[in-house]
Formats: sequence, structure tokens, C-alpha cells
Amino acid sequence: MFLIDVLTIFPGMFSGILNESILKRAIKAGVVNVKLHNIRDYSKDKHHKVDDRPFGGGPGMVMKIEPIYDAIKDVLKGRKKSIPRIILLSPQGRALTQDFAEELSKNRHLILICGHYEGVDERVREYLITDEVSIGDYVLTGGELAAMVLIDTVVRLLPGALGDKDSAKSESFSNGLLEYPQYTRPADFMGKRVPDVLSSGNHKIIEKWRREEATKKTLLNRPDLIKT
Ligand code: ADE
Repeated sequence: MFLIDVLTIFPGMFSGILNESILKRAIKAGVVNVKLHNIRDYSKDKHHKVDDRPFGGGPGMVMKIEPIYDAIKDVLKGRKKSIPRIILLSPQGRALTQDFAEELSKNRHLILICGHYEGVDERVREYLITDEVSIGDYVLTGGELAAMVLIDTVVRLLPGALGDKDSAKSESFSNGLLEYPQYTRPADFMGKRVPDVLSSGNHKIIEKWRREEATKKTLLNRPDLIKT
């Protein structure tokens, strides 16, 4: 089974996404196990402090390395088999793309570390992790939402996570293009009609139309995706 260990100071943030829809089903079906670990539980400080002031001065607080180190050590205890990817979520990381998510889904075990405050002690980056991942060029209040995005993106790629009706194949990005437009009933909504070609029954023409529409949409919305 695919295992995801999440190290966070806000484990409660994850209950929504793990208890609804496809992730809930995948967990129930034994496709994935998501374990939440509160980094505060690993603080040796009597107030369960996980942050401290930055050396050299400056604003804000920095996440300490010891509780993160101890949490990782605990998560790895007794596990000899697969070597996990140990991922720090931060805006400084490698961009999460569909290709990267597919690469991550080929592993068996991910450990996600959710950063906070002004940042984490640089030695976490230098000595404890295998990857640093960003979900986009904007700054979140913490790594939790980014971890949830990563979990959602990776889990839906795991065998058995999606039912027959939710296909991971013909969708945006899997062929380098955005998705073609989809329609369902009614064929006429307040005078706005579904393109006739889709009711033609001619699958060749429909496929051609969809390819053209996907290309048009990609050129318009995301020209950077079209490799030259
Ligand atoms: N933490 C704060 N902002 C982030 C981002 N954009 N991606 C990943 N982790 C983050």
C-alpha cells in the first residue's frame, strides 16, 4: 500500500480532504494510507515549542530542526523496505507538475513536511529531505494546503483510486494539452446549443474536433505548454 506520512503542526486541517470523495474512497479501499503526525509532539520543550528566533536577527520565527528530525526518525522506525521521498513543501521548491506528480506516484512512501513561519532551519533542507516542492509562485500561510494539493494529485494516479467513471487518462496535461470542452444534457440551454458535431455520431470527426478545441484552448490560455 502507498504510504504518506504528513508532519504538520496543524493536523486538523487535513480532515476535510481526507474524509470526502475520492481520497476518502481510496483510503477506505486500502489504496493509500495517510498518517498525520503533529510535529509539536516531538518537541522536547515543556511548552511544545517548534520555532525560535532567527540567528542574525530579523523578523518572524524559524522552525527548529530537532522536532522535525525526531518526527522523521520515528516515522522511519522499523521500516527497512522502501526508501521514502522526504518532501519539504515550500515556495522555494521544484514546481509540482503533472509529470512530477506521476514520478512521485511511482514511489511507495512519501513523507511530507509542512513548513511555517518565516521558514524552516536551512539544515532541514541540507540534511533531512530528498525534495523541496512548491505548488505555485505565491506564498501560502503554511505548507499544509500545498501538502493537500500534492496528496490529491498523487493519490488519484494510484491504481484503484479512481472508479471507471473518473478517468485519469484523457484529461488536461496528460497529453500536454488542456482538456477539450465537455457538454451534457440539455442540448439547448436557454438558446445556447451544444456544438452539432458532438451529436453527429461520427467518432472520427468528434475526435478531430476535440483535438482542435484542446489545441485552441491551450494556445489561448497556456501557450507556455505548447513546446516549440
Ligand atoms: N508554503 C507556502 N507557500 C507554498 C507554496 N506556494 N508551495 C508549497 N508550500 C508552500
